[in-house]
Amino acid sequence: MRGSASGELIETVLDQTDIVVLIGEYVRLVKKGQRYTGLCPFHQERTPSFTVSPEKQFFYCFGCGTGGDALKFIMLRENLTFPEALRKLAERAGVKIPEVNLDPGAQLRRREQEDAWEINKTAAAFYASQLKEKVGEPARLYLEKRGITAEVASKFGLGYAPSQKDTLLRLLKERKISGEEALRYGLAMRLERGELIDRFRGRLIFPITDARGRVVGFGGRALDDVAQPKYLNSPETPYFNKREFLYALHQARDAIRSAGAAVIVEGYLDAITAHQFGFCNVVASLGTSLTREQARLLLRCTGTVLIAYDNDAAGTAATLRGLDLLQETGLKIRVMGVPRGKDPDEFLRTAGPEAWEVAVAGAVPLVEFKVLHFAGKGLDTAAAKMAVLQAIIPNLALLPTIAEREEGIRTVVQLTGLSWDTVRSELDRFIEKGQKNWLNNSKSAKNKHNIENTADARKKAEAGIIKLLLDRPDLAGHVDSAGGTELFVDERHRQIYLKIQGIIAGRALRLPALFSRLDETEKETVVSLLSQEACERPESVLKDYIGLIQARKRREQRQELLVALKAAEAAGDNLRTEQLLQNLRSLTERKGGTNDGRDAGHRD
Ligand code: UTP
Ligand code: MN
Repeated sequence: MRGSASGELIETVLDQTDIVVLIGEYVRLVKKGQRYTGLCPFHQERTPSFTVSPEKQFFYCFGCGTGGDALKFIMLRENLTFPEALRKLAERAGVKIPEVNLDPGAQLRRREQEDAWEINKTAAAFYASQLKEKVGEPARLYLEKRGITAEVASKFGLGYAPSQKDTLLRLLKERKISGEEALRYGLAMRLERGELIDRFRGRLIFPITDARGRVVGFGGRALDDVAQPKYLNSPETPYFNKREFLYALHQARDAIRSAGAAVIVEGYLDAITAHQFGFCNVVASLGTSLTREQARLLLRCTGTVLIAYDNDAAGTAATLRGLDLLQETGLKIRVMGVPRGKDPDEFLRTAGPEAWEVAVAGAVPLVEFKVLHFAGKGLDTAAAKMAVLQAIIPNLALLPTIAEREEGIRTVVQLTGLSWDTVRSELDRFIEKGQKNWLNNSKSAKNKHNIENTADARKKAEAGIIKLLLDRPDLAGHVDSAGGTELFVDERHRQIYLKIQGIIAGRALRLPALFSRLDETEKETVVSLLSQEACERPESVLKDYIGLIQARKRREQRQELLVALKAAEAAGDNLRTEQLLQNLRSLTERKGGTNDGRDAGHRD
């Protein structure tokens, strides 16, 4: 449901959202002519029948028939209600939503989210202030020992949580924030006997922010190697899910854009050290394997990602899965060679920035890294080689250009000793298997389509007129003078026509404006019409449609007249009989005798 949100707001949000960029964060899209295509996220398929139109700002899957605008996509993909989807896209686009437009549940969540940002901001400021106080001396010494300058510490808002049990809780109390709230937002914890104490005590604090710099959580490092755990992080709450953030992304965003690539490291300190050495395009995963959400964050800044994990970590199954996932979202992945047993922090400090640059320049494509990784485990038997091939083929298939695929095949051939033909034919088989699926899908989609549309030639003509107006709003005048709303007997079509008419300004039709006025079923119809190819001779096709509808109307009228005539004759009402015959004659004259509406003769 579109709920109570105003059409204007919906329009603004849709205007500010580029559907190709948005969907590109979920689906790997390839440009094909006017559209982008990719694998449908709403049903299983191996070859793309999912399309996104930048011009019309909507998506449509020819396989499963799902389609709609950016809001619909987010609703389906993220399983959100309409108000939630609107809020999500508004936030993403930086459009402010007036409170009155949110349902009560959403208003509450929004308030709590804002409270979470606020309390985290307060806590971060407190921790940062403590780092500068006398009490923060152990933390300052620790930073010094790790070689972190005060400047960089302040760039990342580093802080210190004193070791007493409730310094933060007391400060919050002064600010009228209760212990229960501190608990809810992850800043306090409850002891067994019920007492609330600060979650972070005696730790160096790393505030974790979202891409816009709002503090969403914290990591707290112990100052010695005895305390456990080494890092204590904010707990998972509805306001903080590690999988949705990248550490240092806020500080790295501009550098990622200008470098054209992001580097992902594992640790907070790896990222900080890289920035200190002037490599500001570095972000850190938060101690979990990489997620789609994180890929999406990066896709907003760049298409290329380098992984700089400790060499052992880079080859673990979890890391490899994360890398495949990143590649699936459309990112180009390369892996940097960081020496075994060293993390980027140590690597930079011991080998220096030049060594980092060499490692960046020498980063190997994911396919090559994977093959090398498997080759390291031994490739003596044919079975082992085929196992590598199986692991690598999906990565090859995901490469967007023929050149990149060929390069990938060459890598596999060189490193495994398998023949070009073997690799090539496995890849083809993989791709072709998908092709078959796709053929089946598209066939059933077509059938469904035909049944719907041939059910009623008149309905089809009505839909055809709407389709023409969507593509060629300048034809609206013709439709209007041919009868306008009277042409439409189907109520949904009539409503859509009225709404199109209502917003056509001059010769232009703004789809976001239209979408914001349509209800769900009307939108479905419009989306499915938009997804069809535009016809080649719109003027003459429009004439055919109108001719068909008018002929149908005349036929109906004639039938009614004949029925009435029979009744009048039977009743012996001569005057009425004469009148009806007159009407019948003028109806036949108007027809002009060329087209009885049985065949409008157009193609679709
Ligand atoms: P590392 O153990 O590699 O630590 O964990 P580090 O970042 O290199 O820190 P230093 O150099 O030992 O001080 C990598 C990341 O994994 C998460 C943190 O995000 C850390 O930065 N982690 C690690 C935790 O969340 N908790 C832990 O106990 C350990
Ligand atoms: Mn480290």
